Amino acid sequence: MAETTMTKIQGLAKQRGFIYQSSEIYGGFAAVYDYGPYGVELANSIKREWWKEMVQFHENIVGLDSAIFMDPRIWLASGHVSGFSDPLIECKNCNTRLRADQLLEESGVEADEKMSEEVINKLLSDNKTKLKCPSCGKNTFSEVKKFNLLVKSNLGDFNDNWENPVYLRGETCQGIYVNFKNVLDSIRVQIPFGIAQIGKAFRNEITARQFIFRTREFEQMEMQYFTAPDIDMKTFESWRKKRMDFYLNLGIKKENLRWHKHEKLVFYAKEAYDIEYKFPFGFKEIEGIHARGDYDLTQHSKFSGIDLSYTDPKTGEKYIPHVTETSTGVGRNLLMMLCEAYTEEKINNGETRVVMKFPRNLSPVKAAVFPLLKNKPELVKKAKKIFDLLKKSFVCEFDDNGNIGKRYRRQDEIGTPFCITIDFDTLEDNTVTVRDRDTMKQERIVIDNLSDYISKGLL
Ligand code: GAP
Repeated sequence: MAETTMTKIQGLAKQRGFIYQSSEIYGGFAAVYDYGPYGVELANSIKREWWKEMVQFHENIVGLDSAIFMDPRIWLASGHVSGFSDPLIECKNCNTRLRADQLLEESGVEADEKMSEEVINKLLSDNKTKLKCPSCGKNTFSEVKKFNLLVKSNLGDFNDNWENPVYLRGETCQGIYVNFKNVLDSIRVQIPFGIAQIGKAFRNEITARQFIFRTREFEQMEMQYFTAPDIDMKTFESWRKKRMDFYLNLGIKKENLRWHKHEKLVFYAKEAYDIEYKFPFGFKEIEGIHARGDYDLTQHSKFSGIDLSYTDPKTGEKYIPHVTETSTGVGRNLLMMLCEAYTEEKINNGETRVVMKFPRNLSPVKAAVFPLLKNKPELVKKAKKIFDLLKKSFVCEFDDNGNIGKRYRRQDEIGTPFCITIDFDTLEDNTVTVRDRDTMKQERIVIDNLSDYISKGLL
């Protein structure tokens, strides 16, 4: 059942121009995806809403766009070079590479990627009879080895000897930490304040499954909130609430969201929670909210030799700020939106209509404009005029292909909230028919009021 829903969503995403496999004409490039025309609109809407919520609505949060390439010492300081790895295992029969923790979990054994090689090897040998390679069904596996997820490049290495690789960033927040002092010195911010960033991240993920849920190239939306060390957990709790409210206000159903509290924390963390969404393949993480203490700025102070402490202008107290992080992925948000919006409905004539019930303000196309008949130049001319007027304020589409029923079905499948039909009455009385995506009800609206009508309908 879950598979069927996911297969349908994946099929629609491709067929309707949301998501394509990368390099498809060359057979596809594993774990990398491209956004098509509607995918990029949807992703932009998600990013816009996040930016509005995190930066525009907070006087003390500023934006940043740091580079993907950074001094490789940053990844030593952050601990990624030594510790950013997943447990890799190989099927001895078909050579499929797997994440050992996932293989164990899928066989009902509790495990996670942070366990040591020894612990995972012991779990594997204790549960040997339960394990099966998902590709060939055999159960002979190699020993586990930790596989580092950082992606390397030879940027600036003109001898091409790969001795000093430069990493493609594995997370965007390191760019925030290393710009903490720049922001502090150039913008009039005082603690507490936050820095927010949206940007690409890269990871050599071992397994590529569940469509765009886990990809090797993806975009993150991260915010690091810097505070004094003695803050109580109120700040952290208020961020937890704000982030959950963000998804609820976007219209995600409450029962499809839940908290996952990390029981085993990394040594520097004070608290860590994930927000999980109920995908067709189960509840999975969409966002992490973590209290990271002073670990990040302390490490970068140590490795760079630059003092990243802050002096309180009122008390003169000097300290390394503590960080509360909120971190989510654009792709996971987009997949959540596709899953949440996908609806099949029986309509009057027994036909099934597929409709993407996106939150209206996120819909890739806000309004579609149709001349009733394609071969009536006066209708086409009037429809074009209305389209030209509306496109200044909204992403709109002009469609004169096929009968009106077919045009509605197509717009339903991309989640367009309003379809506007120009007919012979329009030429007489300057009104049009507006059909609502969700109720399928039709209303006559005066052309002069159309922009207002759509704006109100998108709230
Ligand atoms: N700076 C903290 C950090 O990067 P993370 O849990 O590794 O933490 C945060 O990632 C978010 O980034 C996740 O909740 C998820 O939404 C997204 N993300 C992480 N890895 C991803 C991947 N391989 N593909 C797609 N999204 C990913």
